[in-house]
Parts: sequence; C-alpha cells; structure tokens
Amino acid sequence: MTTTRSAASQAAARATGPEPTAVPPFAVISGAQVQRALAGREKQIVELVGATYRLHGAGDSVNPPSYFLRFPDRPSSRIIALPASIGGPVRVDGLKWISSFPENVAAGIPRASAVLILNDHDTGYPFACLESSIISAARTAASATLAADWLSRGRRRPARVGFFGVGLIARYIHTFLAGTGWSFDEIGVHDLSADAAVGFRGYLQRSGIAHPITVHERAEELIRSSDLVVFATVAGQPHVSDPSWFDHGPLVLHVSLRDLAPEIVLASTNIVDDIEHCLRAGTSPHLAEQRTGNRDFVTGTLDDVMTGRATVPADGPLVFSPFGLGVLDLAVGKYVYDEVARSGELQIINDFFHELSRYG
Ligand SMILES: NC(=O)c1ccc[n+]([C@@H]2O[C@H](COP(=O)([O-])OP(=O)(O)OC[C@H]3O[C@@H](n4cnc5c(N)ncnc54)[C@H](O)[C@@H]3O)[C@@H](O)[C@H]2O)c1
Repeated sequence: MTTTRSAASQAAARATGPEPTAVPPFAVISGAQVQRALAGREKQIVELVGATYRLHGAGDSVNPPSYFLRFPDRPSSRIIALPASIGGPVRVDGLKWISSFPENVAAGIPRASAVLILNDHDTGYPFACLESSIISAARTAASATLAADWLSRGRRRPARVGFFGVGLIARYIHTFLAGTGWSFDEIGVHDLSADAAVGFRGYLQRSGIAHPITVHERAEELIRSSDLVVFATVAGQPHVSDPSWFDHGPLVLHVSLRDLAPEIVLASTNIVDDIEHCLRAGTSPHLAEQRTGNRDFVTGTLDDVMTGRATVPADGPLVFSPFGLGVLDLAVGKYVYDEVARSGELQIINDFFHELSRYG
C-alpha cells in the first residue's frame, strides 16, 4: 500500500534533516513524476552536472568501475550496475541498474530501462527507487551539452549540428542543447534505420525548428557537413574510420563511445569524463590505448577543462567521450527526489522495512 507523504511531514523532514538513527521511509518515484520534475529544467540540470563533475574531480566522490552483466544466450544485451557515492551538498549513495536490450526497438519498446536506488548517507538504508531511463538520458544529455559549451569556448561556435544515430539519447541531447540556448543554422540526421531518421525529423519539426533539416543517407556526408557531430548509435565496434572526414575540425560528442576507429581518436584532441572509466570496455579511446600502449592521446577530463588545468586547441577535430558516471545519476536522482518531495507527491511504501526490532 502506498501513501503520499503529507506536505507538513515532508517540510518537517526538510527542515530538520533525517534523524541519524531513524529508518527513512521508502518512496517509489514513477517515470511520469521524474519527467515532470525535470521538464524545462535543462539549465539547472546542466549546472548540476557541472557541479558534480567538479566534486568528482576534487575527489569528493566514490565511483568504482561499472559492472557489465552479459549473457551468453543474448550477446547483444547487457545490464550495467553503476554504484556510486557523492559528497558535497548532495551527500547520497546509490546504484543505477540499467539494461540495454537493443532488440526491444524492433518490438516497439525502448532499448534501455533502468531503476536508481538512493541510499541514506547516515544509515545506508535505501530510501527511494526511481524510474531511471529518463534520469539517465537527462544526465547524459546534460553532460553532452556542458561539453558542447565548454569545448566550443575559444573556437568558432558550431552552427551546423549532425546527429549520427537518432534514438532517445539523441532526442534528449537536442532538447538540452535547445533548452540551454543553442540554435543552429542547419540540422543533419543520419541513422541506419530510415524509420528512425524520419521519426527524429518529425520530432524536430514538432519542436518548432525553422531551419533546414537534412536526412543524410551517407555517414560521410553528415560528418563533413556538421561542425558539431553527436554520436548516439548502438554500435559495438568502430564503423567510422576515415580521418579525412574530420578534416574540417568538428567538435564531436562521442556519447555512444564505440563508433570511431583508433586512427580518428589518435588524430583528434580527446577529452573524457573520467580517464580510468573511459579507457575500458572496448570504447574507442580504449582501442586507441591498446593500439599505442599509452594514454598520451588524452588531453584531460572535462573537469580539467572547466578548471583550467587543460586547454583545447582552437581548431582541429575535438572529441568528447563520456563514459557516463554513476555520480551524475545520483545527483540528478536526488534533485528529482527533492522536487517530488517539495511538491508533496512522494509515494511512500508503508512498512517496506519491516523487521526492525533486534530481538523481535
Ligand atoms: N556515455 C553515456 O553516458 C551514455 C549514456 C546513455 C546512453 N549512452 C549510449 O547512447 C547510445 C544511444 O542510446 P539510445 O537510447 O538513444 O539508443 P536507441 O536504440 O534508442 O537509438 C540508437 C539509434 O542508433 C541507430 N544506429 C545503430 N547503429 C548505427 C550505425 N552504425 N550508424 C547509424 N545509426 C546507427 C539505431 O538505428 C537507432 O536508431 C547507446 O549506445 C547508449 O549506450 C551513452
């Protein structure tokens, strides 16, 4: 049985903070609630993601490697566990548990599904389970948007964007770019699936885009005609290998991580979110490391750029490869939790933790 916490009790909890030894109530937050909490908040979420990168860069986080659960009978599928802990004002621990089943798309349901568990800092008790495919897409889009902003400072601001692979993540990245003030003279679209390309163009048209939208049949055309390229495919192996396609020096948001051959990585300036995380699991930067035996091709992290420890050249191809950090999910998840609590709509599962007396 669920109840909605009264506004008064939520306000009291906020005012006093959780009692250190109390078992916190357990809430379930639906995708509809997550979406309402995040709608129109692109600027705040990009700022929050920036602040979280800074906390992580300053060492105020624990973010062990993601664990990939794979299945011999379903080789294209996986479920990833991202445990993390974040300090600063957020101060929460937790776990994102996210499935990727690419065959879902043919059956008409999204590829990825996820939950996020938030754990109380003082007692360790889980206090919320949130639908998390939206949180994951939002934090990924916010990270890409933050990178587009910081990495285009000191170089010509991109005016032609090309989306390479146009599923949910591409849509969220476009929403976050638009919601933080980006506008483009041209938008290019490329996808292996003609239906996906048409669907994405329809979304762009519905969102009121006035400038030309071009669906490119050929990958080369899309890249050569874009100065901001967003990769959001589900490719498991590099499929773009000609460095000359990048001769015009685009900014590349390599969100899907495995599209670029090592030659392209090695011919570019490379910024990642976290070096240890990103150079594993067969990502393109990982393949480049295996090819060269070193990490010299990585200039630094986005946090290094934001804090001035690293600078990027004013021209030439510049590739941002974000592995995706659990701390971002925690920060955005806690933001959603606080918003839902503030609106008085937390759905508490009564008696979720039941065996609470040591000797019965
Ligand atoms: N780095 C991160 O933090 C992070 C976070 C979330 C998702 N992702 C990644 O983003 C990617 C996209 O996720 P999504 O939910 O939008 O997936 P999706 O399945 O909804 O869409 C992917 C699209 O890419 C297209 N595609 C696949 N291979 C292609 C290729 N070689 N060339 C052109 N198009 C191709 C598909 O037809 C599909 O339309 C996934 O790889 C996912 O793992 C990364």
